[in-house]
Amino acid sequence: MKTYQTLLTELEKGIFIITINREDKLNALNKTVISELNEAIDEVYTNSEIKGAIITGKGSKSFVAGADISEFKGMSEEQGKALAQRGHDVFDKIEMSAKPIVAAVNGFALGGGCELAMACHIRIASENAKFGQPEVKLGIIPGYGGTQRLTQLVGKGKALELLMTGDTIDASCASKLGLVNDVVQTVELIDTCKALLQKITGMAPIAIAQVIQSVYAHFKDGINGFDTEIELFGKCVATQDFAEGTAAFLEKRKPVFAGK
Ligand code: COA
Repeated sequence: MKTYQTLLTELEKGIFIITINREDKLNALNKTVISELNEAIDEVYTNSEIKGAIITGKGSKSFVAGADISEFKGMSEEQGKALAQRGHDVFDKIEMSAKPIVAAVNGFALGGGCELAMACHIRIASENAKFGQPEVKLGIIPGYGGTQRLTQLVGKGKALELLMTGDTIDASCASKLGLVNDVVQTVELIDTCKALLQKITGMAPIAIAQVIQSVYAHFKDGINGFDTEIELFGKCVATQDFAEGTAAFLEKRKPVFAGK
C-alpha cells in the first residue's frame, strides 16, 4: 500500500481510513496535503478492495483547522485562483466518488476543514467538534466550495449568517442545522463511521453509486435530476445485482451482491 508524507492510511475490511497527519498544525491543509488527498482518493476510485472510505484528522483536537494560512503570504490573484481551483478539483473528486466517503469530524472543522467535511457524502461529528467558515476574518471567502456546499446543506439564511460572521458553532448546533448527520462520543467516532459504512457497502454497489450520482444531479447546472434518476433507475434494473436482490427477497435469503 502507498505511503504518504502527510496522511496515514489503513484498509480494514474494505474500509479505507485516511487520516490527515499534521497534528502540530491542527491538520491544516497545505499543498502537500491537498495533493496527497487527491492521490488517496484516486486509490479509493481504483482499488477494488476499497468499498468505502473515512476521512479524519490526527489527534483529539482537530479534524482540519483550515487551509494552511502560512502558504497565503504574498499570493497573487492568479495564484489565489489556482489554489482555489486545485481545492475544488480534489473536493469535487471526493463528492463524485462512486464509493461512499464519510467524514469523521474529530474536533475543529474550520474553513477548508468544514469544506472538506461538506464534500464527503456523510458527516459524523464527535461531541467536541466545532464548525465554521472564518475566512472573512482573514479578508477572503471560502475557496474550496464552502459558499455552495454550506448553502446546499443548511439553506441560504444560515449559510449567509455563518459565512458573514465567521462564527464557530458546536456539534450539537451543527446537527440541528443539518450540517452533520449525527453526533457521537469521541471514543465511538471511528467505530460509528465504520459501522455506517459496513451497512452501506453491504448494499448493491452500483445502486449506491447511482444514488450518489442522482442526488448530486440536483446541484449540477443544466442537468434535470428527475431525468437523471429515470436514466439511472433503468441502468440499475439492467444489473445482475438487481436480479440477485429481487431473487433473494423472494427466496427469503440474504442477497450476495457482485457489483455487476
Ligand atoms: N493554518 C496554518 N497553521 C495553523 C492553522 C491554519 N489554518 N490553524 C492552526 N494552525 C497552527 C497554529 O499556527 C499553531 O502552530 P504553532 O504551534 O507553530 O504556532 C498550531 O496550529 C496550533 O494552533 P493554535 O492556534 O496555537 O491552537 P489554539 O487551540 O490556540 O486555537 C484554533 C485553535 C483552531 C482556534 C486556531 O488555531 C485558529 O483559529 N486557526 C485558524 C482557523 C482558520 O482561520 N481557518 C481558516 C483558514 S482559511
